[in-house]
Amino acid sequence: MATKQTWNASDIVDQTGRTAVVTGANSGLGIATVDALARAGAHVVLAVRDVKRGEDAARTVQSAKGTVEVRRLDLADLASVREFAESWQGDLDLLINNAGVMNIPEASTKDGFEMQFGTNHLGHFALTNLLLPYVTDRVVTVSSGSHRFPGSPHMHFDNLNLTGEYSPTVAYSQSKLANLLFTLELQSQLAAEGSSVRALAAHPGWAATQLQSHDGSAVRRAFMAVGNRFIAQDNTAGALPTLYAATQDLPGASYLGPDGFAEMRGGPALVGRSAAASDPESAVRLWAASEKLTGVTFPRLADLAVSV
Ligand SMILES: NC(=O)c1ccc[n+]([C@@H]2O[C@H](COP(=O)([O-])OP(=O)(O)OC[C@H]3O[C@@H](n4cnc5c(N)ncnc54)[C@H](OP(=O)(O)O)[C@@H]3O)[C@@H](O)[C@H]2O)c1
Repeated sequence: MATKQTWNASDIVDQTGRTAVVTGANSGLGIATVDALARAGAHVVLAVRDVKRGEDAARTVQSAKGTVEVRRLDLADLASVREFAESWQGDLDLLINNAGVMNIPEASTKDGFEMQFGTNHLGHFALTNLLLPYVTDRVVTVSSGSHRFPGSPHMHFDNLNLTGEYSPTVAYSQSKLANLLFTLELQSQLAAEGSSVRALAAHPGWAATQLQSHDGSAVRRAFMAVGNRFIAQDNTAGALPTLYAATQDLPGASYLGPDGFAEMRGGPALVGRSAAASDPESAVRLWAASEKLTGVTFPRLADLAVSV
């Protein structure tokens, strides 16, 4: 399906009366996503692990139409994820799973999961399923072109935490592959329940944000600093695939990214994904493993906000 190359945030349909949650909203693509949705009239909740930094970011949002609010969410702590979801009341039109860490030195979440898999995938897996009873429209999860990284062509199902074989880049690409498999299986489960809620995914191409600054390798940091200067697009452009996925009429499981060279920059368009990211058996297997690890399951049909 062709999309308009010139589509930008000012083309977002009126979001007045709609509520969105954006994770990792205090910086980079997250705050650009918040800003665009609030300008379009939405009430946007910035879900952040540091409330002070969230409030600083919220003050930068220039919207006469929409409103913003900051709430604490640490995706690397399942108790925090539960606390966030348990305090939720009312409809949630859009859940945007944007937060992420990349290529960091080996570390563990509060619950003992490898930090990139735990934050980027398991935290969002638990958050989504706990909030799903309130979701009325869609869930958009931010993945990456790195899901194709050759070092991690498949999920490491026998060792998802990469214990004893940790590589920062493999862990990141595995977590971003997990984002796509999660979207595939979430869409499949919603459809099986007859729900009209949709699950979609997006990636920003290469955007100059804080993401690269936490890389454990000085060589990669230097390379990416050069790339940020000469190749990357800015946060506003990087957020467009997410915003397009969040607001345009697209089929469930759609994956959006930039339409330029190597999907690094350009206007939002439907893009392809690796064979591993399209494998329904892996998606089912990841879902089962994620339920076991987090103790969170897909809600019962009667608990879903929207069924058809
Ligand atoms: N930039 C790119 O070129 C690029 C390319 C492909 C995909 N992506 C994806 O885009 C998404 C956004 O990244 P970005 O580029 O905007 O990077 P960023 O500026 O570093 O933003 C990442 C956000 O995630 C938050 N976060 C990290 N760990 C968290 C946790 N445990 N709980 C809650 N929030 C947490 C960070 O919070 P703190 O400020 O507190 O650390 C920050 O707000 C990520 O999923 C990333 O994988 C980015």
